[in-house]
Amino acid sequence: MRVIILESAADIAVQAGNIFVELLKEKPDAVLGLATGATPVPTYKYLIDCYNKGKVSFKDAVSFNLDEYIGLNKEHPNSYYFFMMDMLFSHVNMRKDMIHVPNGVAEDIEKECRDYDALIEQFGGIYVQLLGIGTNGHIGFNEPSDAFSEGTYVTDLTKSTIESNKIYFPNGDMPTKAITMGIGSIMKAKKVILIATGHSKAKAIKAMIEGEVTPSCPASILQKHSDAVIFLDRDAASLLA
Ligand code: F6R
Repeated sequence: MRVIILESAADIAVQAGNIFVELLKEKPDAVLGLATGATPVPTYKYLIDCYNKGKVSFKDAVSFNLDEYIGLNKEHPNSYYFFMMDMLFSHVNMRKDMIHVPNGVAEDIEKECRDYDALIEQFGGIYVQLLGIGTNGHIGFNEPSDAFSEGTYVTDLTKSTIESNKIYFPNGDMPTKAITMGIGSIMKAKKVILIATGHSKAKAIKAMIEGEVTPSCPASILQKHSDAVIFLDRDAASLLA
C-alpha cells in the first residue's frame, strides 16, 4: 500500500483524477472501476474539467461501478446509475452502452451478479478501481463480516451504513440491501485507488492501514494488493501512527 497524505480534498481530486487521465491517454479503451458517494465527487468534477479542456477523452472507455441499491431503477434520483450520470457521464463523451452499473431491479438478481462478473472478465478486467471507504471500513458495499466476499453479490447494509447514507433519503425510504462487487472482484483490479477525506474516516483508515487484515475491516484486504494507492487528507490520516 502506498499512502499519500495531501492538504485538501481538491488536491486528492487532482492526483486521483490524473491517474485516470494518464491511463486514458495510454490506453483509451481502458476499463475503469468507479465509485459513488460524496468522496469522489471532486475527482469527477476534475475529470469533467479535464475533458472540457481537451485533456482527456472517454470515447472508447468502459466503466463498471461498484454497487447499486436493490430496488432502485436507473431513473431513481438516489440510484447510483443516476448519480454517475449526474456527476460524471452526462458531462463527458462516454458511450452510454459502455457504462455498467449493477441492475438493482433485475428480475433474477443472482443471474445479474454472475453476469456482472462475467462482463468485467469479458472486457479484460478492471485497470484502475476507484474506491471510497465507509466509516465501518467497507469498500463497495462489502460490510464488515466474518469472511471476505468473492464476486458480485447481494448484501444487507449494516446499521452504520444506513446511518451514514440515510441523509440522502429524507423520506426514510432508504433500501436496506445492495448489489455490490465483492472483495475478490475488487482485488482483481490491476490498480486500486482509495480516497478518503474527513475525521469521520480516520478510525477506518487506521484499521485499514495499521490493523490486521481481517474481514471485520474489509478495506484492510488492500494491504495485500500489489498496487494500492491511498490518498488521504490530514483529517482522514489523523489517527495514523
Ligand atoms: C460507493 C461505495 C461506498 C462508498 C463509501 C464512502 O459506490 O462503494 O463504499 O465509497 O460508503 O462513501 P462517502 O464517499 O459518501 O463517504
